[in-house]
Amino acid sequence: MAILKIARMGHPVLLQVAEPVPDPTAPEIGRLVRDMAETMLDASGLGLAAPQVHEPLRLFVWRNGENVAALINPEIELLGPPDQSGWEGCLSIPGLRGNVERAGKVAFRGLDIEGRTVEGEAEGLLARVMQHEFDHLNGILYPSRMSDMALFGFTDELTRAAVRQQAEAAPAMAGPAR
Ligand code: NI
Repeated sequence: MAILKIARMGHPVLLQVAEPVPDPTAPEIGRLVRDMAETMLDASGLGLAAPQVHEPLRLFVWRNGENVAALINPEIELLGPPDQSGWEGCLSIPGLRGNVERAGKVAFRGLDIEGRTVEGEAEGLLARVMQHEFDHLNGILYPSRMSDMALFGFTDELTRAAVRQQAEAAPAMAGPAR
């Protein structure tokens, strides 16, 4: 296994529409999936799409509890409007976070490295990860999904601001003693 180099925003591979994987059972696809899993875990990511490691192919991996799952030639159906706002980061946009509205639930379908169909539904954070990774296969990075650029910034600044806000809000929340 190997840790792969991650493409950062600005590299054209991240803007490409990725190609379908011709043979999910090919040994080089198995190797790519294992290397992507190792790369994602090493970088503490929740998901990683092949274009992020300079392979413009339609596949991604994500964290499934302690394990890593892969989806090859995926299809995703949004089961609801994109009305759930939440913070996202991306291994290709290190150090930054942005607030993105996504559907709360999706249905997914694709193949594993044995060529078997994998399908199911995902909610909440996993649904968000799937929509984010699927976007990578179409050359879309999360900032272009954002509706409010005020909610985009460096993770450490956003964390500092949130802590400050909490400290200011705390006395008000406690209310005057009666
Ligand atoms: Ni990403």
